[in-house]
Amino acid sequence: MVASKRLCLAAAIAALHGSAIAQLQQPLSAEQRPLEADNTRPGAKKPLVNTEDLQASINAENLLERAQDLYGIAKRSEGQYQHPTRVIGSDGHRGTIDYITSEIARLGDYYTSSKQSFPAVLGKVYESRLVLGHDVPASAVPMSLTPPTTNKQPVYGDLVLVANDGCDASDYPSELSGKIAFIIRGTCSFGTKSEHAGKAGAVAAVIYNYNDDTFGGTLEKPSANHVATFGLSGKDAAPTLEKLKAGKVVDSIAFIDSEVSTISTTNIIIQTVDGDPDNCVMLGGHSDSVGEGPGINDDGSGSLTLLEVATQLTNFTVNNCVRFAWWAGEEEGLLGSDYYVDTLPEEENMKIRLFMDYDMMGSPNYAYQVYNATNAKNPNGSEELRDLYVDWYTSKGLNQTFIPFDGRSDYDAFIRNGIPGGGFATGAEGIKTKEEEAMFGGKAGEWYDPCYHQLCDDTSNVNTTAWLLNTQLVAHSVATFAKSFDGFPERANTTAAGVYEQETKYHGRYLEI
Ligand SMILES: *[C@@H]1O[C@H](CO)[C@@H](O)[C@H](O)[C@H]1NC(C)=O
Ligand SMILES: *[C@@H]1O[C@H](CO)[C@@H](O)[C@H](O)[C@H]1NC(C)=O
Ligand SMILES: *[C@@H]1O[C@H](CO)[C@@H](O)[C@H](O)[C@H]1NC(C)=O
Ligand SMILES: *[C@@H]1O[C@H](CO)[C@@H](O)[C@H](O)[C@H]1NC(C)=O
Ligand SMILES: *[C@@H]1O[C@H](CO)[C@@H](O)[C@H](O)[C@H]1NC(C)=O
Ligand SMILES: *[C@@H]1O[C@H](CO)[C@@H](O)[C@H](O)[C@H]1NC(C)=O
Ligand SMILES: [Zn+2]
Repeated sequence: MVASKRLCLAAAIAALHGSAIAQLQQPLSAEQRPLEADNTRPGAKKPLVNTEDLQASINAENLLERAQDLYGIAKRSEGQYQHPTRVIGSDGHRGTIDYITSEIARLGDYYTSSKQSFPAVLGKVYESRLVLGHDVPASAVPMSLTPPTTNKQPVYGDLVLVANDGCDASDYPSELSGKIAFIIRGTCSFGTKSEHAGKAGAVAAVIYNYNDDTFGGTLEKPSANHVATFGLSGKDAAPTLEKLKAGKVVDSIAFIDSEVSTISTTNIIIQTVDGDPDNCVMLGGHSDSVGEGPGINDDGSGSLTLLEVATQLTNFTVNNCVRFAWWAGEEEGLLGSDYYVDTLPEEENMKIRLFMDYDMMGSPNYAYQVYNATNAKNPNGSEELRDLYVDWYTSKGLNQTFIPFDGRSDYDAFIRNGIPGGGFATGAEGIKTKEEEAMFGGKAGEWYDPCYHQLCDDTSNVNTTAWLLNTQLVAHSVATFAKSFDGFPERANTTAAGVYEQETKYHGRYLEI
């Protein structure tokens, strides 16, 4: 699950669309393919998938064993990060990709597999400080993907107020050279402002808010003209602004120690050999975690659920193609799923009947949260999927709630491109209500996942009851559509124009300005 902006951190990554690094489609190598067992060969006689048997094949032991494996893999990052993590670019994430790949390879020829590599820009801020006159404003936050100050050392200079919105080169006064630009937020991107400031010779830039709020942002695609750039709340900016407008000198110090690098990361896609390849049910989870921790619930749980269902499915034949995806770069703004859907040719897009998102399946203080994906606002079929989940919980005598289908996970690119979608989750940083305590147990007043995006998202951070049950529901969703799309709306258009108009707040590549 992507952090809501409130919780967003300075380390950020953006996909470089249209970059020179080509998309790679790599089949598994021959060494990774073991001799296939008889029951996994596509031609072998197997029963047609049915939901009861596929659900019955899911057990908690397998899931927990996989969670232990994944935690061990996250520990491979300790050398670089001093703690376990599976953030993209880390050994823990590369290990996760290898683990999924080798587990799939054990399934013989039941699936065809491919890896889709894509470039991502990785930014790290190690240290920063901003002093405006005698003030050290608490709200000063380095922008994501900011370059460091010169030689990663503090720079000193008077603060210079930039005219207008700072979106035009002419807004930047000639005496800016060697000084620090003070620019209001708005109208154009943070990157544009930083670039103008750099071209005008500034040694750093401070972008202050037009209201009192604290904010963060990203410079997006790196540029040689960017200078070290901070965001600052309007509240903290006000006294300084007053002095500048009165013609007073505000000598300042800016310091950012940071690094910006381009890495390659990888989505894994597998598809049943069996089943109608023109009518696929697709499902996905994300293989990466945030840098702060091992991400066993977020989204180790979804990734391993997919792996377990993909494994158990090999005992069956399917009528419709089933396609599984493990996305990379979800935590940096849905990078992998965006890249996948963006590079999908139209005729391939049309073969995906629906996409099901499985992100955070076993939160410790869980609620059964179904995305409220209605047909009124989403591609036709989204609501049928929503209702499938509701009906299943209801049939088990369980409660569920609807949560906003607001683009906070990897389903977003699908919906935007005309593909019906949905999913369910068990909760991130939201607070459980009294009513929900009565509905699901657990503790009101606490986060659904108290370890959300933290170091403690380890193997003890999953509720086995919820995870097992939800994996059975994933199995149900797969079995249902692998068997038949009867009664499910035909695919329409790849353009969802006029239908789906959501905010783009969770994407790495959509800019907030
Ligand atoms: C498939 O079915 C066999 C026989 O019931 C069972 O032993 C096995 O665990 C099942 N799962 C897989 C992945 O083969
Ligand atoms: C679900 O979404 C629809 C609009 O698409 C809205 O009318 C309804 O109130 C929502 N339900 C809940 C429980 O949020
Ligand atoms: C469902 O929620 C109601 C309260 O709204 C509660 O009384 C009931 O026990 C819950 N059912 C289960 C299975 O937890
Ligand atoms: C999972 O949640 C249920 C219901 O709240 C609780 O009874 C159980 O002890 C929890 N299990 C674990 C492993 O946390
Ligand atoms: C949605 O699908 C249903 C069932 O296939 C169909 O009757 C309906 O006309 C579709 N709605 C739209 C807006 O295409
Ligand atoms: C696709 O959808 C758009 C927007 O709703 C509509 O204008 C267009 O006619 C549709 N095209 C087809 C082939 O249905
Ligand atoms: Zn997350």
